[in-house]
Amino acid sequence: MRLNKYLSHSGVDSRRKCDELIFAGRVQVNGETMTSPGTQIDEEKAEVRVDGEIVRLRSNFTYIKMNKPQGYITSRKDPYHSQTVMDLLPGVLDVVPVGRLDKDTTGILIFTDDGDLNFRLTHPKHGVEKEYEALLRQAPGGSLEKELPAGIRLEDNGDLVKGIAEALNAKRTHYRIVLREGKKREVKRIFRHYGTRVYRLHRNAFAGVSANELKPGKWKKMTPEEIRQLKKTAGLD
Ligand code: URA
Repeated sequence: MRLNKYLSHSGVDSRRKCDELIFAGRVQVNGETMTSPGTQIDEEKAEVRVDGEIVRLRSNFTYIKMNKPQGYITSRKDPYHSQTVMDLLPGVLDVVPVGRLDKDTTGILIFTDDGDLNFRLTHPKHGVEKEYEALLRQAPGGSLEKELPAGIRLEDNGDLVKGIAEALNAKRTHYRIVLREGKKREVKRIFRHYGTRVYRLHRNAFAGVSANELKPGKWKKMTPEEIRQLKKTAGLD
């Protein structure tokens, strides 16, 4: 097995971050520093260390989904002592969030200690589909529904965003939005661009997986079928 694969499958970090560790000379195999990520190792026998600590292959990663409630920030720690989503999970779980939701956004948030999968699911290359529902102060101007599939340049920083927008009521104040990129505050910025504001945002699905069956703040381990779905989306199948 390649050394970088061994490290990412040991939960050390994403494949790319593991490459960086190797290039930095922080990885030893059987006492010898290796600086090439492609080094072949015998995963049965090799003793692999990162910064002197032994790392072992893992096959039992943890995959969790939560229906994130409002009022929690998506961060491992908050310097200003806000509540974070980590406060809703038992401390023994050594998982991190996959991507982020704003403090006031609700809906599915995935957590895992599988660094490789996390990296892939958040990498723009894989264009993971996210489906949101937004409630708006007033109907958006212009023709969002027609323009979003072709791509719009947001006024604030020129980001190009593409997706699907579907009004769910006649007043056009309730929308379903499907996006594949992962830009900051994307949905809210799209509606700002069209002259209105989102007052309630909920994520219905991430890579086809929903947490709508859970009460806000509740979480559970993902089913094997859901994990398969995530891995397929990430190109790990
Ligand atoms: N877009 C937003 O504006 N906020 C979120 O939390 C997620 C997507």
